[in-house]
Amino acid sequence: MSEAAPVASDIPTTWFRLARAPALAVLVDLDGTLLPFAPTVEEAGLDDAAAGVLRGLAAVGAHVVVVSGRPRAAIDPLRDAVPAAWWFAEHGAWRHTDGRWQAPTVAAELGDLARRLASLAERVPGARLEQKSLAVGLHWRRVAEADRPALIAGAEQLVDEWLEAQPAFERLDGAAVLEVRHRAAHKGTAVAWVRARLPADARLIALGDDATDEDTFAALTDDDAAVLVGAPDRRSHADWWVPDPDGARALLRWLVEARVAPGPPPPAPVRPWTRARAARPQHPLVIMSNRTPTVGSGRGKEVGGLVSALTPIVERTGGVWLGWSGAERAPGLALAFDPEPPPALATFDYPPGWREAFYGGFCNQSLWPLLHGFPGRVRYVDEEWTTYVTANAAYARLAARLTPPTGTVWIHDYHLLLAAAALRQLGHAGPIGLFLHVPFPPRDVWETLPWHREVIDALLACDLIGFHTRRWADNFLAAAPHGVAGLRRDGDRLVRDGRATTVGVFPIGIEPAGFRPPPAGDPADDLDGLRALLAGRKLVLGVDRLDYSKGIPERLEAFRRLLQLFPAWRRQVSFVQVSVPSRAEVPEYAELRRRVEELVGRINGEFGEADWVPVRYLYRSYPPAVLAPLYRLAAVGMVTPLRDGMNLVAKEFVAAQRDDDPGVLLLSRFAGAAEALDAALLTNPYHVDGVAADLDRALRMELDERRARHARLITAATSPTATSWADDFLARLAEVAAGRSTSG
Ligand code: UDP
Ligand code: G6P
Repeated sequence: MSEAAPVASDIPTTWFRLARAPALAVLVDLDGTLLPFAPTVEEAGLDDAAAGVLRGLAAVGAHVVVVSGRPRAAIDPLRDAVPAAWWFAEHGAWRHTDGRWQAPTVAAELGDLARRLASLAERVPGARLEQKSLAVGLHWRRVAEADRPALIAGAEQLVDEWLEAQPAFERLDGAAVLEVRHRAAHKGTAVAWVRARLPADARLIALGDDATDEDTFAALTDDDAAVLVGAPDRRSHADWWVPDPDGARALLRWLVEARVAPGPPPPAPVRPWTRARAARPQHPLVIMSNRTPTVGSGRGKEVGGLVSALTPIVERTGGVWLGWSGAERAPGLALAFDPEPPPALATFDYPPGWREAFYGGFCNQSLWPLLHGFPGRVRYVDEEWTTYVTANAAYARLAARLTPPTGTVWIHDYHLLLAAAALRQLGHAGPIGLFLHVPFPPRDVWETLPWHREVIDALLACDLIGFHTRRWADNFLAAAPHGVAGLRRDGDRLVRDGRATTVGVFPIGIEPAGFRPPPAGDPADDLDGLRALLAGRKLVLGVDRLDYSKGIPERLEAFRRLLQLFPAWRRQVSFVQVSVPSRAEVPEYAELRRRVEELVGRINGEFGEADWVPVRYLYRSYPPAVLAPLYRLAAVGMVTPLRDGMNLVAKEFVAAQRDDDPGVLLLSRFAGAAEALDAALLTNPYHVDGVAADLDRALRMELDERRARHARLITAATSPTATSWADDFLARLAEVAAGRSTSG
């Protein structure tokens, strides 16, 4: 944090200028900012001291703007205490100015979610549902500690599932509250409104304590000041901080005095933090990916392999990880910093429209199916390509602000194929590498992309491009030179105008320690509870994001075929399919979900018995600590994607097995992982009868063969590790970038 702070001597000057600005607006949140938290908002009135300080500000000519998340009814009793103030309720959805409340301009359909949350809250003493015009929130400040985890987990699952089909809404994690809100109802709208009312040279100071206040902060400019109330230990757009509401009041009192003091005032009681918009720290390494890991929040989703792989590098090098926050906002693209815990994150919101056109559109309905070799699922829309170009340029601009022109930039995946070229246009001279986590298709599929030449042309701005397998690298090397003037292939390099881009194969690994079995006898090795659920049956396990590339319906069909062709397995096996919700806003994914649910129902209806449910389908995600014992319990891990860049689940499954009694990995030959894990039972997921026969073989496999295969698999599954993969890529990047000018 200290590296990011403004120079100490700037602080008095900055605050002196702010205090004396001819036009000044002070935006304050109430709960947690100006007022200490009380168990309910009804108990958190505006005390005389707080009201006094706001009146004092108005008296010295500052515009006082209260920007609260409270409903209007909880604001009304406060208004008389500060008559000159403008009031925003429900995070800016409602505004009280010129003597009356102005209604929100968008309608919200929250009824169904509110009903479901209410029935959850009814069962937990102290839980309270708050329904607003454009939001609904579940509060647990008054819920006993012991009851909280179950309530929170239940609410999160309900909310996340509901949000899958409601892209106009978003989830907000507040202090002891989980809220779902219309994307149009955020505090940044208050900033826009206030600014429109004031002269162009007006300065704004905003104070807030929680995630909802970040919208206020993000809408400010470099000339304004965002002050976080609370410890500076999370992702924020704030430049300054005070420790608590007392600190906030002290700062406001200082402003009142400083605005009218005859001479220079004493230093402002506020501490510098990240100077989020001004003197940005310069990192030697920037990792760019579409979205960043959700670490650090405590209640975020679990982290995946990429986070384990890149965190140590980001930490060790003093780097930063740049990506989308997951939210969409106007105007968007303001950087928020989360310096710790590692990795350091820099995130930003998408501007309106990007979610549909960039993420859901070009990335996931054009590039994703194209690169996985499903041309029948591809659609190309000119406007979405234009947004893709714009978005890549914007990512590049943000990255360029985080690193000097000589810094190293490591770009990840298909969302950012144009970012390297955009960085070069901005004058970036340092090493740039790109790793593609998905497959690369044969040339005739690749060339269905109307802009395939433009993409190759942009990729040549990289020093190094990495793939998981030789096959994807070869497809790329064979396709790239066609149609791009002056480009020739030289072994594993693409050369144009004497400048080379090297192509390399870097199979990503896992961090095995999190999956290896505990020593026998260790309490963590006790799977009896889970085993009892199986009642002596063999477990066949599938774990995937719910994505058509994973071949889940085909897998279910194969299981059904097993029960038909090999009836002896009826009642003897249970198939558990964990399907992690993914991209549900994209029509193909919503359709896939329906298809899978229907198939599960059909199989269970066709074969189920009173005491046996053939397929258990779980539409949710689990942390690695839950997956590992599940992998270990399975007789067969079915990893049968139609196509996959690598597939980490396959490696995790192998790592989790006991050496003396391992389960069998039934692996699609079309997963990148099959290149190294060739001792698995390889199968063709398109051939349903064949997979059924292979599954039968896997279920019958003798201990000797299982052990022999496992002995060969374990090395391939656990090395390289995620960390060594990242180290290798960066070492090679440094090497090829150093030799860049000598290419020929
Ligand atoms: N994963 C998880 N919880 C789940 C299911 C999966 O954490 O409930 C993780 C899994 O451990 C693996 C990653 O998600 O590390 C999936 O990576 P993979 O390469 O298999 O597929 P992708 O989703 O990247 O296409
Ligand atoms: C694959 C892609 C990643 C992506 C992930 C989850 O692993 O290679 O880039 O982040 O799927 O997809 P999502 O669309 O939720 O980010």
